Amino acid sequence: MSQITHDRLLIIDFGSQVTQLIARRLRELNIYCEIHPYQKVTDAFLADFAPRAVILSGGPCSVIDAGSPRPPEGLFALGVPVLGICYGQQVMMQMLGGRVERGHGTAEFGRAFVTPSQQKTDLLQGWFDDTSEQVWMSHGDHVSAIAPGFEVFGTSPNAPYAITADPVRNFYAVQFHPEVHHTPKGARLYENFVRLAGFTGDWTMAAYKDEAIRKIRDQVGDKQVICGLSGGVDSSVTAMLLHEAIGDQLTCVFVDHGLLRLNEADEVVAMFRDNYNIRLIHADESELFLSALDGQSDPETKRKIIGGLFIDVFQKYAHQIEGAEFLAQGTLYPDVIESVSFSGGPSVTIKSHHNVGGLPEKMGLKLVEPLRELFKDEVRELGHELGLPASFIGRHPFPGPGLAIRCPGEITREKLEILRAADAVYIDQIRRHGLYDEIWQAFVAILPVRTVGVMGDGRTYDFACALRAVNSVDGMTADYYPFSHEFLGETATRIINEVKGINRVTYDITSKPPGTIEWE
Ligand code: XMP
Repeated sequence: MSQITHDRLLIIDFGSQVTQLIARRLRELNIYCEIHPYQKVTDAFLADFAPRAVILSGGPCSVIDAGSPRPPEGLFALGVPVLGICYGQQVMMQMLGGRVERGHGTAEFGRAFVTPSQQKTDLLQGWFDDTSEQVWMSHGDHVSAIAPGFEVFGTSPNAPYAITADPVRNFYAVQFHPEVHHTPKGARLYENFVRLAGFTGDWTMAAYKDEAIRKIRDQVGDKQVICGLSGGVDSSVTAMLLHEAIGDQLTCVFVDHGLLRLNEADEVVAMFRDNYNIRLIHADESELFLSALDGQSDPETKRKIIGGLFIDVFQKYAHQIEGAEFLAQGTLYPDVIESVSFSGGPSVTIKSHHNVGGLPEKMGLKLVEPLRELFKDEVRELGHELGLPASFIGRHPFPGPGLAIRCPGEITREKLEILRAADAVYIDQIRRHGLYDEIWQAFVAILPVRTVGVMGDGRTYDFACALRAVNSVDGMTADYYPFSHEFLGETATRIINEVKGINRVTYDITSKPPGTIEWE
């Protein structure tokens, strides 16, 4: 158990896909919370954790089924406020003397409107007045009788007990999910709940950092840890955090596959090795990767070659680190929710993610994943806290296979050099115009086609390139960035004048879908 001094809120996870969003809403309110799967939460656990309040999450099970998940009986005798969400509401009602029934014709999935009752509860302060409000429902079963002591504060057409509370015991239960964006004002409910529970909201990213450092030390002891450092935000923050926690017990391996951007390898090595004093192996394996890619033009084959070699190379260097027992990875919460159940909880697996693939098992290493409870913007905030420069934290995403997938068709060293030079001019233009932070990702792709041009009095026959710039929230969908014609014209002129080998510049105005962000 961690030894944090803040008031703690316990979220008992019954397997909802959105449990983590409850934590997210609470962190926005500077509340320290931990999510633990229901199997782990016993009366002894509760006594040890000593929560100031408890939230019961939603979940895929039915409380009517024998053996369905429950919190320990002692929870309701602790004397702390409890909030039940969806399944959490139903399990609360059942355990406290109410009734839950299967939803024959009363299931609700998606948007619904809840109307407030005449009587008021502080839980809804500043949210519901007299009008009905949109919420997001996702339930098959429903509460058909509330437990003694509870009163009704809101109803929806298919959920007569949408909002209930026992104001004396400070128990609250709602049928909908206030944590999701489709309940537009749902954050207010959490705000009211933690206020009613007496939290002061004193937990910050600085506190998270201290806590994460303590956890890393507890987990790792005096053993050695290796970390694959790509120079991206996630792996950089992971490395910095580990460095602060365990110093020279950490060795980072930076695999240079020869497909990086102009000066990128030097910049990453200089920053982490020279500036932050992190033990760093610069594995310059560009020859190996580029020879293996020679003559290959199929995108999937290229990816497989690079992915396979990356693991081989990483293993080769990792084996040189004596006594390494742990592998640190910058896995984020969205990777976790897509690949495995959270914290060993019962969420249903949706799909596997490439970041968590095979490597640790193959190498017999245990994982250290200090970012697995964070969202991307929180990782950036943690990066600030750790002293990483803002320019580094705000870098655009860069794909693992690097320039290989920005060089459609066969990769040659000549094309890579031209691509690097053009990309550097393009990014410089974007920075000069103050647009870098407004754009989610921008890069150049060199096209596998030569075109005729005229420069001075001579004919040219050089490569064409495409500029790409998109805005996106998560990379799943994207819109092309609406540069001005002046910007595009100026950039094209600069690239053609400054980059030998390119005589034509195009701008890619495809959205995703139907396109993808990268060209391969
Ligand atoms: P797409 O091209 O699929 O890209 O629209 C979405 C986001 O993912 C990045 N990307 C990759 N990242 N390995 C990675 O680590 C890959 O193979 C890969 N392919 C695409 C891409 O840069 C964009 O941010």
